Amino acid sequence: MSQRTSRISGFHKLSRDERLAAIQAVAGVDDATLEVLKASSALPFELLDRLVENAIGGFTVPVGVATNMIVDGRDLLIPMATEESSVIAAISNTARQCRDTGGFFTSISGTEMIAQIQLVKLSDPWAGRAKVLEKKAEIAQICDGCDPLLVKLGGGFRDLEVRIIDGRFGPMVVVHIIIDTKDAMGANSVNTMAETLAPSLAAWTGGRHHLRILSNLADRRLARARAVWRKEAIGGAEVVEGIVLAADFADHDPYRAATHNKGIMNGVSALTLASGNDTRAIEAGAHAFAARSGRYSSLSRFEITAEGDVAGSIELPMALGIVGGATKVHPTAQACLKILGVTNAAELSRIAAAVGLAQNFGALKALATVGIQQGHMTLHAQNVAITAGAVGDEIAELARRLAEGRAVRQDVAEAILAEIRAKK
Ligand code: MEV
Repeated sequence: MSQRTSRISGFHKLSRDERLAAIQAVAGVDDATLEVLKASSALPFELLDRLVENAIGGFTVPVGVATNMIVDGRDLLIPMATEESSVIAAISNTARQCRDTGGFFTSISGTEMIAQIQLVKLSDPWAGRAKVLEKKAEIAQICDGCDPLLVKLGGGFRDLEVRIIDGRFGPMVVVHIIIDTKDAMGANSVNTMAETLAPSLAAWTGGRHHLRILSNLADRRLARARAVWRKEAIGGAEVVEGIVLAADFADHDPYRAATHNKGIMNGVSALTLASGNDTRAIEAGAHAFAARSGRYSSLSRFEITAEGDVAGSIELPMALGIVGGATKVHPTAQACLKILGVTNAAELSRIAAAVGLAQNFGALKALATVGIQQGHMTLHAQNVAITAGAVGDEIAELARRLAEGRAVRQDVAEAILAEIRAKK
């Protein structure tokens, strides 16, 4: 009997086969499971091993392309990496329905990131704050000195904010350095700056520096998008009313707002992942921004225009990059960025906002009319059919019968599959 301990010394130094053998010894998985892991990625193992520690395989998420999007006058194909069926179909549909009004129009507030340095144990925090603000020029120099390439590309230090926060252990001084990271998401750059700067801040204020890290509430990188859906394109005045009523629910109730915003992130995160960006950073920023008033609310707005159509708009933090991190080293991310045809991070961020709005509109329209299950279930039925063991032509037939019967469940699928096979 193998002993089930997760304490495996030097695991990271092992080859892939050795790692798999060690996993087999501890977890007791069979050879077939190891074979699945070995065949799990089209990417070379050396690349996977460089991307994360202790790599054993890859996890393939489907990449699809949403069609019909027009963003700021450009026709775009949107690469999306998502395991959720119906996301790509929904966005393609929604984008088609606003082509006659010009599609999506976008803007962005900038490409600045905030890094925070926490100073604690100051006897005179207000004086400390004043001292830090006096040093703005020196702080700019220290920050820019950390990343001369960024400065050469037109980015670098932009501004300084110093806040005093009353914590449980007394007041702390929190310094924000504001850095234009241009085409990079910028985490590495601003974190290095924060760590380099912190000892000087501590010396100037007489405090002790503690955390030094970027903030994911990237509210100096706000991407916005808007679009109009004509009532004739979406099923008439009743649908228009249904959509604004649904949006009103999200504006006023955090339980609904969480789900409403999740729908937005179905689109945003799929593009974020496809472009090799950090989905968690984008999610964290979006939800923190949604709660900025103190009450969690919707990231989008839907109104009825003077003509009786639906005007949708959205604004959310969008710290996306096209250089650095996985965006450059992951070949699929590179391919996706090429399909999208973006030349800078601001453009990618603006498109992501449009994708979020499109996705959101699609969900609200479905919810306000036929309900979400109709579209969802047709696609979900295919997954259930495969899980039930259907192969080849059986998948489509079983999926169709499951969706028609509206009981898209594993047990029902198995019974119908047995029927299909008995008739063969
Ligand atoms: C499901 O992934 C997303 C929705 O729940 C979004 C919404 O309710 O607005 C359909």
